[in-house]
Amino acid sequence: MTTSDLMDDIRTLRTTRGVDATTADRVFRDARTVGSFLDVPVPDELLREVYDTVRWGPTAMNTSPLRLLVVRSREGRERLAPHVAEFNRDRVLAAPVTLVVATDVDFHEHMATLVPHAPTSGEGFADKHDARVAMSRDNAWLQMGYLVVGLRAAGLGVGPMTGLDATGVDGEFFAGSAWRTLAVLNVGWPDGEGTDRPRAPRLEWDQAARTV
Ligand SMILES: Cc1cc2nc3c(=O)[nH]c(=O)nc-3n(C[C@H](O)[C@H](O)[C@H](O)COP(=O)(O)O)c2cc1C
Repeated sequence: MTTSDLMDDIRTLRTTRGVDATTADRVFRDARTVGSFLDVPVPDELLREVYDTVRWGPTAMNTSPLRLLVVRSREGRERLAPHVAEFNRDRVLAAPVTLVVATDVDFHEHMATLVPHAPTSGEGFADKHDARVAMSRDNAWLQMGYLVVGLRAAGLGVGPMTGLDATGVDGEFFAGSAWRTLAVLNVGWPDGEGTDRPRAPRLEWDQAARTV
């Protein structure tokens, strides 16, 4: 095969299997971080469908440490709100649904299932708490990125927030468990663009990438 044949193949692959422009607009170019939502509920089935898709995104050793708490009820919202920074609170109280994005520091307990090619690999993590904390955070953050993109692909708007007291949220909802809060995502159908703030620029390739 010549280089030119290969380039032809790559072009064909891009047109037949690449992400189409509409999807790229929907999940990246047009999608904004949403602060205001329509008063329309987000069904559990839709959240479940999005999870069923994005769970296939890769994580180190397939550890998959992302955990989610779906905060939907008035009571749940009122328990969450005091632990969220004041400048974020009204949006958490008003969102149709808020996901507390957490990581499971005891992710290794699932490795017999998740790593069938090395089913005892989880045992090596049992006495390595600090390593598990670091690895679970890195990989759950990665999965949160997949989740944001998946929610947007389903037509939803997302408002991620780290302005919160993560330890306070842990105490409120995850006491006695190994789940640890990373962020919250307000989720719903955007009201218009969902924000009045003009789009801020992003860095250019030459600013963000180096080649050696
Ligand atoms: C991990 C993360 C944490 C964020 N935390 C907050 C927050 O606490 N409060 C807030 O108002 N916006 C928060 N944002 C929103 C960002 O400022 C916003 O996504 C960014 O400026 C891009 O905006 P755009 O999508 O409208 O272009 C957060 C976003 C991310 C991804």
